Amino acid sequence: MTAPIIRSLPELRELTRAWHRAGEMIGVVPTMGALHQGHLSLARIARAECDRVITTIFVNPKQFNNPDDLKNYPRTEHEDARKLAPIGVDVIYVPDGDTMYPGGFATNVSVEGLTDCLCGAHRPGHFDGVATVVSKLFLQTSADKAYFGNKDYQQLQVVRRMACDLDIPVEVIGCPTIREEDGLAMSSRNLLLSDRARIFAPHLNEVMEAIATAFAEGKAMSDLSGPAIAKLEQAGFTEVEYLELRAADGLGLLDTPSEHARLFAAAWLAGVRLIDNIDIPAR
Ligand code: PAJ
Repeated sequence: MTAPIIRSLPELRELTRAWHRAGEMIGVVPTMGALHQGHLSLARIARAECDRVITTIFVNPKQFNNPDDLKNYPRTEHEDARKLAPIGVDVIYVPDGDTMYPGGFATNVSVEGLTDCLCGAHRPGHFDGVATVVSKLFLQTSADKAYFGNKDYQQLQVVRRMACDLDIPVEVIGCPTIREEDGLAMSSRNLLLSDRARIFAPHLNEVMEAIATAFAEGKAMSDLSGPAIAKLEQAGFTEVEYLELRAADGLGLLDTPSEHARLFAAAWLAGVRLIDNIDIPAR
């Protein structure tokens, strides 16, 4: 049976109040829909750890800096509900634009520092949109735990900072990136890749894994990034926005993994922007 879809905030609040009164722990999995195994893995972890699970679906206009990207974003609500059914989430919360941003809405949640680099530097306003909508979703659902993917590692750090700074009593939990068999990180945007582009897309992760191996051999990012970008361009990527090694905690730029780090990449392939990041142990 598919979980009930709730669209109204008062209705959601009535439920969550009753759950909390009964001493139940609530987990939330915020999404923009077009659910794939990456999203579903978060819902499964939440299901295993919490008494009640809310999956939210809201394609948040405030975090899109390109109107075409917002327009083309896949919307598959019924299919999403069907995919969540076997996991047994309790409720799917699908607010509409007026519920999230009613007339007169004027507040912006902006996290400084962490948002200056990577996707923050290339997508102006994106993380303000994310921090604003996620702070609302935390307050609307009054969740005790919230589940986010490492796939969007910078987003995870930004959301964690925001919840801590605003004293929102939610534990933000980072979960592993789920990949296709060929290494491509699952993403709703993969649906937009042509058959031909889909063949070349796994090169992004392949090149990143090769860099990870080279770090283990003592090489530095300053030697590795030029050839790696050339390789991606050969594979048909038109623009590599960034390919950078950064500290796992705080996202400071690194040349070698002198501390626990992550390797981050964003690149365009046939009109689709792909991002990925992988863990790099300190050495
Ligand atoms: P969306 O892109 O739908 O992703 C929802 C959640 O799924 C995020 O926490 C994301 O990191 C996680 N996710 C996506 N692909 C994944 C994968 N391959 N493996 C594991 N987890 C994955 O991220 C957003 O939506 C929005 O910015 C949102 C947080 C909902 C705010 O609007």
